[in-house]
Amino acid sequence: MSLSILFLWVVSCIPLLVNSISDPRGYLLDCGAGKKDGAIVDNLKYITDEGFISVGNITTLKTPNLVPILSTLRYFPDTSACKYCYVVPVVKGGKYLVRTTYYYGGFDGGKEPPVFDQIVEGTKWSVVNTTEDYANGLSSYYEIMVMATGKMLSFCLARNEDTKSSPFISALELEYMDDSLYNTTDFKKFALATVARSSFGSAGDSISFPDDEFNRLWQPFKDMNPIVESHVNITPSDFWNMPPEKAFYNAITTSRGKTLQINWPQNPLSNAKYYISLYFQDNRTPSPYSWRVFNVSINGKNFFSDLNVTTDGVTVYSTQWPLSGQTQIVLTPRNGSPVGPVINAGEIMQILPLGGKTLTRDVVAMEELARMFNKPPSDWSGDPCLPKENSWTGVTCSHEKHVRVVALNLTGMEMSGTLPSKVAKLSALNHLWLGGNNLSGKIPEMGSMKELKTLHLENNKFEGKVPKSLGQLPKLKEIFLQNNKLSGEIPSSLQKKKGIKIRM
Ligand SMILES: *[C@@H]1O[C@H](CO)[C@@H](O)[C@H](O)[C@H]1NC(C)=O
Ligand SMILES: *[C@@H]1O[C@H](CO)[C@@H](O)[C@H](O)[C@H]1NC(C)=O
Ligand SMILES: *[C@@H]1O[C@H](CO)[C@@H](O)[C@H](O)[C@H]1NC(C)=O
Ligand SMILES: *[C@@H]1O[C@H](CO)[C@@H](O)[C@H](O)[C@H]1NC(C)=O
Ligand SMILES: *[C@@H]1O[C@H](CO)[C@@H](O)[C@H](O)[C@H]1NC(C)=O
Ligand SMILES: *[C@@H]1O[C@H](CO)[C@@H](O)[C@H](O)[C@H]1NC(C)=O
Ligand SMILES: *[C@@H]1O[C@H](CO)[C@@H](O)[C@H](O)[C@H]1NC(C)=O
Repeated sequence: MSLSILFLWVVSCIPLLVNSISDPRGYLLDCGAGKKDGAIVDNLKYITDEGFISVGNITTLKTPNLVPILSTLRYFPDTSACKYCYVVPVVKGGKYLVRTTYYYGGFDGGKEPPVFDQIVEGTKWSVVNTTEDYANGLSSYYEIMVMATGKMLSFCLARNEDTKSSPFISALELEYMDDSLYNTTDFKKFALATVARSSFGSAGDSISFPDDEFNRLWQPFKDMNPIVESHVNITPSDFWNMPPEKAFYNAITTSRGKTLQINWPQNPLSNAKYYISLYFQDNRTPSPYSWRVFNVSINGKNFFSDLNVTTDGVTVYSTQWPLSGQTQIVLTPRNGSPVGPVINAGEIMQILPLGGKTLTRDVVAMEELARMFNKPPSDWSGDPCLPKENSWTGVTCSHEKHVRVVALNLTGMEMSGTLPSKVAKLSALNHLWLGGNNLSGKIPEMGSMKELKTLHLENNKFEGKVPKSLGQLPKLKEIFLQNNKLSGEIPSSLQKKKGIKIRM
C-alpha cells in the first residue's frame, strides 16, 4: 500500500508566496527538523516534530537537493521500547487523514531500509516496507483516515520480527477532514487506509493543497486508453467527498461502442473489504446531448447499472466492497451510445477494523502515573495496552469486554517521582510492584482497588503514614513496604487478615 513520490524536487522551484494562502487545518510535522522550524514544500509550512514526541534521535541526510522534509528524519535506536509514539492534540470526534512519509537515505550507514510497523491509536495500521521505493530512488508515503476519540491522537512506530535496524520517519501529517467526507463509513469501528487516490489521464505532479482543500493527494494515472480534456469545470461541493476541480480536468475514455477496461489500482490487493468511490463527468461542452450512459463493473461484478454521466458530473461509491488480487474496472456503454464511457478519478481505501482502546479511566490513571514518575519507560506514550504486542513496558492488560490494566511492574527501574492518587482509579489492578525505585511522597489512598492482590512498594523513599484504606482491600494477600521512610503502624484491619504476608 505504499505510494511513491519523486524526491528530487529542486529547492529553488518552491514559490515564495507562502503567506498568501491559508494552511489546511491540521499538523504538518517535519520529523527530525530539530530547532529549525518551517521547511516549506509546495506552499505548505511544516513545523518541527519536537514537542509531539519525547523519544528517538534526529539526523540530517547528506543527499543533495532533497525536498526539505525528506532531508531530516527521526529514528529510534532503543531496542527495549515496545513502541515509539507521537501524541498530537486534535478536535475530539474530528476525522483526520494521517499521512506518514519515509525516506531512508542510508541514514544509519546501511544499504536497505528497515521494515517495521506503524500504529494509529490502539490499532496496528500496517507494515512499513520502503525497500522497493528506496531502491528506485523514491520516498514512500502511507495514509489512513481515522476519527479522533479523544483530545489527543497517537501515532506510533514499533519494531516487529522483521525489523533489523532502527525504525525512522521523515514526515507526519494530520489533515482535518470535513464531517461530510466519507461519512458513510462508521469511523467509530473502522479506519480507511488509502490504497490509491488517482486522477485519471492527468499528467505531471499529483494534485494536493490548495487544489484539494483537505490536502489529499491525487496521483496521476495513465494507461494505454485515450485521454480527453473536460470543457467545463465542476464545483467540488456538489460532489460526495468534495474531490478537487483539477481531478476532473482530464479523463480516460475509449472510442464509441467500445468497452473501457482499466487495471486500477496497479498493484494487487490483499483479500479485504474496500471503500471505493469513482468520479465521472461528460467532458463535452454542455448541451442537451452531452450525457452518456454506461454500466460500471469491478472484477466482473456489477457496481452500478445505467449510470447517466452528464457535464455536471457524478460520484458513485460503495462502502464495503470485497476485493483481492488485481482489480479491473470495466465500463460498458449502453447499446447504440454515440460516445464511449469516461472516468475522471477514483479512490480505493482498505477498511481497517479498529483494535479498540484501553478503558478511559485506566488511560487517565496511567497517563497521570507517566507524568508523576520521573523517567518512566520511554514507551509510556500512546495507548497503554494496545496493540496487544505493544503495551507499555511493565504493564499487563486483560483483553475482555473492556481492555483493562491488570498488573503494573516497574521493579528496579531507577525511577524517582511520586505515586499519584489517581493510581486508585486502576480498579482492575491485581498487582502493583514498584519496589527498588526512588519514589517519594505519601502512599495514596487505594480503597477503590478492590482487585489488588499484591502491593510491593519496598525499597523506596515513601514517607508518612500507611493509609488505612489498605485495610479495606478484600483480596490483598501480600504487602511489602520495608525500607521506606514510613511512620506509624500497619492498619490493624490489615494485620488481622488471615494468611496475609506483610513486610514493614
Ligand atoms: C540517541 O540519543 C541518546 C540520548 O540523546 C544518546 O544517548 C544515544 O547515544 C543516541 N544514539 C545514537 C545511536 O546516536
Ligand atoms: C520488503 O519489500 C521487499 C521488496 O518488495 C521484499 O523483497 C521484502 O521481502 C520485504 N520485506 C519484508 C520483511 O516483508
Ligand atoms: C453525508 O454527507 C452528504 C454530503 O454532504 C450529506 O448529504 C449526507 O446527509 C451526509 N450523511 C450523513 C449520514 O451525515
Ligand atoms: C441522462 O441525463 C440527461 C440530463 O439530465 C437527460 O437529458 C437524459 O435523458 C438522461 N438519459 C437517460 C438515458 O436517462
Ligand atoms: C447494464 O446492467 C443492466 C442491469 O444489470 C443490464 O440489464 C444491462 O444489460 C447492462 N447493459 C449493458 C450494455 O451491459
Ligand atoms: C515483577 O518484576 C520482578 C523483576 O523483574 C519479578 O521478579 C517479579 O516476579 C515481577 N512480579 C510480578 C507480579 O510479575
Ligand atoms: C536514588 O537516588 C539517589 C540519589 O538521589 C541515587 O544515589 C540512588 O542510586 C538512587 N537509587 C536507585 C535505586 O535508583
